[in-house]
Amino acid sequence: EKGGYSSFMAKEIDDQPQAVGDTLLGRTNEKGDLILDDLRIDEATLRTIDKIIVIACGTAAYAGHVAKYAIEHWCRIPVEVELAHEFRYRDPIVTSKTLVVAISQSGETMDTLMAVRHAQEQGAKVISIVNTHGSTIPRESDAVLYTHAGPEIAVASTKAFVSQITATYLLGLYLAQLRGNMFRDEIQAILTELRAMPAKLKEVLDRSEHVREVARSMADATSVLFLGRHVGYPIALEGALKLKELAYIHAEGFAAGELKHGPIALIEEGQPVIIIVPSPRGRDSLHAKVISNIQEVRARGAHTLVIAEDGDTDVEAFADEVFWVPQAPTLMSPLLTVLPLQVFAAELAGAKGLDIDQPRNLAKSVTVE
Ligand code: F6R
Repeated sequence: EKGGYSSFMAKEIDDQPQAVGDTLLGRTNEKGDLILDDLRIDEATLRTIDKIIVIACGTAAYAGHVAKYAIEHWCRIPVEVELAHEFRYRDPIVTSKTLVVAISQSGETMDTLMAVRHAQEQGAKVISIVNTHGSTIPRESDAVLYTHAGPEIAVASTKAFVSQITATYLLGLYLAQLRGNMFRDEIQAILTELRAMPAKLKEVLDRSEHVREVARSMADATSVLFLGRHVGYPIALEGALKLKELAYIHAEGFAAGELKHGPIALIEEGQPVIIIVPSPRGRDSLHAKVISNIQEVRARGAHTLVIAEDGDTDVEAFADEVFWVPQAPTLMSPLLTVLPLQVFAAELAGAKGLDIDQPRNLAKSVTVE
């Protein structure tokens, strides 16, 4: 079943271009408009939604965190992202105009299921974004958007994550279409960009040998910090989670803007810092700000590993290593920048002789609270 790979995770990492492609498949009609068939919530209800709350755990929650940037930008609906186990035990403001989006690979995560029930009791409609057909969460939801990534066997989530991001984007564009937030042409242009992503994911994976070499050289690292901004921020969190889970190395992700508010005190000679650099073609000045962050940590002795877009020569002066990814619109970039982080964690764990499919103390689906 591993199809010649040394682990399920290695295979699932390589399956990601296909997973994103499959998530996109069959979602438009002959006119090119989005049709999300399994969304059994009537359009009138979806038009009245005044808030979205994404509930999920772990990697699925980071997918939700990415989705917030896109959906608020496209639909102008406030989006909150909350860990399912926190949502359920406070007193969240949920009404019949709240749309809850539950994201789960397994569809069986107890914390997420309980949060779904909690939301429904308060009159919210629930759409679940799930990978596993026939699982409990979609059965109890008002509607489901399956990710179609195929079975994910390795405990650490990889292809489910990129599919979850893709599915939330389809949902965001669908809501924008339904609610008239965007012109048809704009939606079509974004769909075209999305359809170009699988080939770009493949390109990143084809370049992964450099990431592997660097990862192997870092097998005795004891702490790695991850910095990102905008959609790169949840990717920094995800990169840190992968490294903790697989390689048992202390890792922490930060919003790059937080650096000077505390975390920079951690930087000492030799501290590895992985930085996800926003596109220099982005509209605002985020690129320059993150370049300054690289400079700041490098000046204090950090070993800087940088993920940057092809052609971004600004990073070279301050990077010890650069992992290049193809150019893509900012909102699409998480689908690319997460890949080197997955490869890095898997390779480093492998270099330590660890079982990357079955990390200690973890289960594939957490069916207890
Ligand atoms: C991380 C990981 C976990 C899951 C989380 C949610 O690699 O696998 O953090 O993402 O337990 O699981 P699902 O998506 O099945 O609800």
